[in-house]
Amino acid sequence: MKVIRILKWTAGAILLVLVAAFLVAWVTSSNDCDHRNAGPPSQPMKAIVYCDYGSPDVLKLADIEKPVPNDNELLIRVRAASVNPFDWHYVRGAPYVGRLMGIGLRKPKEIRLGVDYAGTVEAVGKNVNQFKPGDEVFGGRTGAFAQYVRARADRAVVLKPASVTFEQAASVPIAALTALQAVRDEGKVQPGQKVLINGASGGVGTFAVQIAKVFGAEVTGVCSTRNVEIVRSLGADRVIDYTREDFTKSTTRYDVVLDLIGNRPLLENRRVLTTKGIYVLVGGGGPEDQGLIGPLVQPVKEFILSPFVSQKLVMLFAELNKKDLTLVGDLMQAGKVKAVIDRRYKLSEVPEALRYLEKGHARGKVVITVD
Ligand SMILES: NC(=O)c1ccc[n+]([C@@H]2O[C@H](COP(=O)([O-])OP(=O)(O)OC[C@H]3O[C@@H](n4cnc5c(N)ncnc54)[C@H](OP(=O)(O)O)[C@@H]3O)[C@@H](O)[C@H]2O)c1
Repeated sequence: MKVIRILKWTAGAILLVLVAAFLVAWVTSSNDCDHRNAGPPSQPMKAIVYCDYGSPDVLKLADIEKPVPNDNELLIRVRAASVNPFDWHYVRGAPYVGRLMGIGLRKPKEIRLGVDYAGTVEAVGKNVNQFKPGDEVFGGRTGAFAQYVRARADRAVVLKPASVTFEQAASVPIAALTALQAVRDEGKVQPGQKVLINGASGGVGTFAVQIAKVFGAEVTGVCSTRNVEIVRSLGADRVIDYTREDFTKSTTRYDVVLDLIGNRPLLENRRVLTTKGIYVLVGGGGPEDQGLIGPLVQPVKEFILSPFVSQKLVMLFAELNKKDLTLVGDLMQAGKVKAVIDRRYKLSEVPEALRYLEKGHARGKVVITVD
């Protein structure tokens, strides 16, 4: 009895500490908007900022201080950027688990937005010797929706191949590296294998179709009627129009399923896998489907199920790195991979660009051009 009482008291105390920690974190959650002093920036630049979570309406084009590179950094004049679902996850603070994991409980900690960019190096820190002013580069760094971005020279930034435009290069970082890592690292795609890509016409999908072909796969893309031709033109051997045919009812068995939509139960996805097949969950769900843990429900199921089935069920967490940016740049330079650009918006139109992306029907990439 005494032990049970001690356990109850301990559990109660832990709960109390957690609730108190949550409340303190909630109340003290703030960002630069709260501390900005009244005076205008001394070296202004235009950037997209947001002070509170919400729909793309919370985004504003503002004059903020132009960044100054430190000794290990580059200052890049952004010529083009691209939007990703990642961006609306940040703007909405959704799913909520993201807020608990550090993006800011009540308000976004980081008020700048955007990751993918391509541009020209304007200045370099004194320890940087692999880049020089005037170099054309592309990469990923928070705050890409701006006239300038500051990036660490040893992080995800590389020289842009000469034949690749700024818009094409800005389309690459998140989408193409996600596609590459899904095909190569998680899917372990081998020549001759059958690969199905659910969501073949979006930002990640258009790259995934081409990259799976580079790896020698026989590719089936799933998309709607209006995108059948474009997916085929990217090299897909077969295209399933999801408005007419349910891929999970197919009699074909795939070695790898890359799921960018996550709209089918795991059991149905497993049905079209070979016995040793690999299911790679990349993402899924729109702004309305996020809740507390959003697309993480599926990976939890995978984690529970995976030890008991012969197929491999994995979730991808893509990472931006120099090696893969260089590889995709080389594939583009060689004409083996290209970015499909759906729409272009100006920097001031980032809210419109995100509203469009959030509808979930972009065809390839949505690009931001920066003057
Ligand atoms: N795990 C990671 O590290 C990681 C990294 C990057 C992205 N992601 C996630 O991956 C997902 C895809 O990203 P994205 O940039 O490709 O998004 P996206 O560009 O917004 O995807 C839009 C595409 O999805 C297609 N689509 C919509 N409903 C479909 C359905 N029922 N069946 C098949 N296709 C459908 C649309 O085609 P139609 O117009 O023809 O319907 C459209 O072309 C997102 O959830 C994103 O958050 C994850």
